[in-house]
Amino acid sequence: MNRQPLFHPPVPDHAATWEGIDWQALVKVAAGSRERAYAPYSGFRVGAALLAPNGRIYGGCNVENRVLGLTLCAERGALSAAVVDGQTSFEALAIVTGATPPCAPCGQCRDALAEFTCDLPVVSVTAGDDEASNWSRFTLQNLLPEPFVLAVEKP
Ligand code: THU
Repeated sequence: MNRQPLFHPPVPDHAATWEGIDWQALVKVAAGSRERAYAPYSGFRVGAALLAPNGRIYGGCNVENRVLGLTLCAERGALSAAVVDGQTSFEALAIVTGATPPCAPCGQCRDALAEFTCDLPVVSVTAGDDEASNWSRFTLQNLLPEPFVLAVEKP
C-alpha cells in the first residue's frame, strides 16, 4: 500500500498585530476571570481572555485539583470556552497573574494555542497594575517558534 504522509502543520496564519485590539477590555475580562480561579494548592491565581474574530472575548481561569497533574491552566480554559462556541482562530490573548514581572504562558498552553493560531499577540499583566507600560508583550510565534507537527499517514 502506498502510504502518503499527510502533514497537518499549524496553518501559518496572519502575523500578530497589536493595533485595533481593545487590550483594556481583554485585560478586564482576564482580571475578572482570575477572580474565579480555583488555586488552593499553588495559591497562584491566573485569568486569561481570548479574543475571537467574532468579536467575543472568552475568559478562563486556572482550575487546580488535588491530583496536581490534572490542573487546568487559565489559557486552556479560555480556549475550551471559545471552541465550544465555534471559534477556532484567535486574534489576541490577555493574561493576568500575581507575578511581577508579568509571566508568559506555560509550554502546554503555547502548544494548545498554536493548534489554532500560530502567531497570537499576548499581553501579560500583573493583577492590579493598570499601567499599560508595565504590561509584558509577547507573540506566540516568538514563544513557540517551532510547534510540534503531527504527521499522519494516509491509509
Ligand atoms: N498556570 C496557568 O493557569 N497558566 C500558565 O500558563 C501557567 C500556570 C496555573 C497552573 C497552576 O494552577 C498555577 O498556575 C501554578 O502553576
